[in-house]
Amino acid sequence: MPATVVIGAQWGDEGKGKVVDLLAERSEVVARYQGGNNAGHTIVAGDEVYKLHLVPSGILYPGTLCVIGNGTVVDPGALCAEIDGLEERGVSLETLRISGNAHLIMPYHVMLDGASEMKLGKFSIGTTRRGIGPCYQDKAARVGIRAQDLLDPKILVRKLEIALEAKNEILEKLYGLPRLAPADVAEDLLAHAERLRPFIADTALIIDRALRDGKRVLFEGAQGTMLDIDHGTYPFVTSSNPVAGAACTGTGIGPTRIDSVLGVTKAYVTRVGEGPFPTELDDDAGRHMLEQGNEFGTTTGRQRRCGWLDLVALRYAVRLSGMTQLALTKLDVLSGLDRVRLCVAYRDRDGARLTDFPYHQTVFHGCTPEYEEMAGWDEDLSGCRSLEDLPPRAREYVDAIAAAVEVPITLIGTGQGRHQVIDQVEV
Ligand code: IMP
Repeated sequence: MPATVVIGAQWGDEGKGKVVDLLAERSEVVARYQGGNNAGHTIVAGDEVYKLHLVPSGILYPGTLCVIGNGTVVDPGALCAEIDGLEERGVSLETLRISGNAHLIMPYHVMLDGASEMKLGKFSIGTTRRGIGPCYQDKAARVGIRAQDLLDPKILVRKLEIALEAKNEILEKLYGLPRLAPADVAEDLLAHAERLRPFIADTALIIDRALRDGKRVLFEGAQGTMLDIDHGTYPFVTSSNPVAGAACTGTGIGPTRIDSVLGVTKAYVTRVGEGPFPTELDDDAGRHMLEQGNEFGTTTGRQRRCGWLDLVALRYAVRLSGMTQLALTKLDVLSGLDRVRLCVAYRDRDGARLTDFPYHQTVFHGCTPEYEEMAGWDEDLSGCRSLEDLPPRAREYVDAIAAAVEVPITLIGTGQGRHQVIDQVEV
């Protein structure tokens, strides 16, 4: 399986970092295809904890080529800080490549993200305030600044002048914020440019060559299916497409090159930010998930909302990305609960039973979950390395999920450490 896409099946934070990290060990290339430093991956390697935001997790394996694809948005300052932090800890960045076509997050994008959230007040989206949405807006409006512009300071200043003409009006008149001088923005940017220039490359060509040479390439999605701008719970979504199809447009390869799609789902559900969440809990089971799962954001430190696993939403995610296998993470977190529940259907406001995810947001907002309840288990799973090691009730829970979504579960998370998994993935 030379080309595998790893994507989140929920609202992000499914533990993709750990899964990608594991599979990166068996891959020659790891490529990010969307999102930016709104993402956060925590990787526990021995005694070391790494928090990555933009650099693909493969960077921890010497020699693995790590690509930040054209579909991502890159905050130059944040990326430089991440690169410096990794280098200080002895991680080599020699194999990092940034697509020349990736768009750059400018200081005005960050200002606009924060200001627009403030203005929306109780209708806010709960963004990470990293400037993600405003940067993608400029990409679509064709006034964005791209990584390749760092290679041509003259063009860079000209583009900044054009972009800032409109942005300054918005900053000042709509939000009462200070205007930015193109020369100042350019100066800061060019300081980072020195650092980033050696990494900028034609990454679509590099990936094509790797695939032609039979190398194993992993496409690393950020956020999750339910945060997809087209298919997620709009408007409470991110501004890009986390679904597997975007791995093609976000790195510059064709759909026929993808061999396998691995969806990552927690054994329960979490969500940060605002928006509907039918299986959300406000009880002891929810607090158990929050505490045992340490459900606080890597990027913003925010407490995550927790709930039972939603099979209606999971089947939707499987369908949208054509998933061929599933990773079930953090199963160990559920140890110690008397009873566990799986949401098998929704009831809409009129009491109708829905097993397919509703396309209309008004219907979805009014949905309540219908559960199947199963006996829980007490055993510590951290030593389980094969399906046979799982206690019978945990095994029943896993089997019920696989049967409901009709996709094999090839990886199960049983603890925080890098190798605390049941791993049957072939990459
Ligand atoms: P943005 O991506 O910063 O614009 O935020 C839009 C929505 O996506 C908000 O609800 C965020 O909390 C959510 N979001 C963005 N990135 C992540 C992530 O990596 N994990 C979980 N939620 C995320």
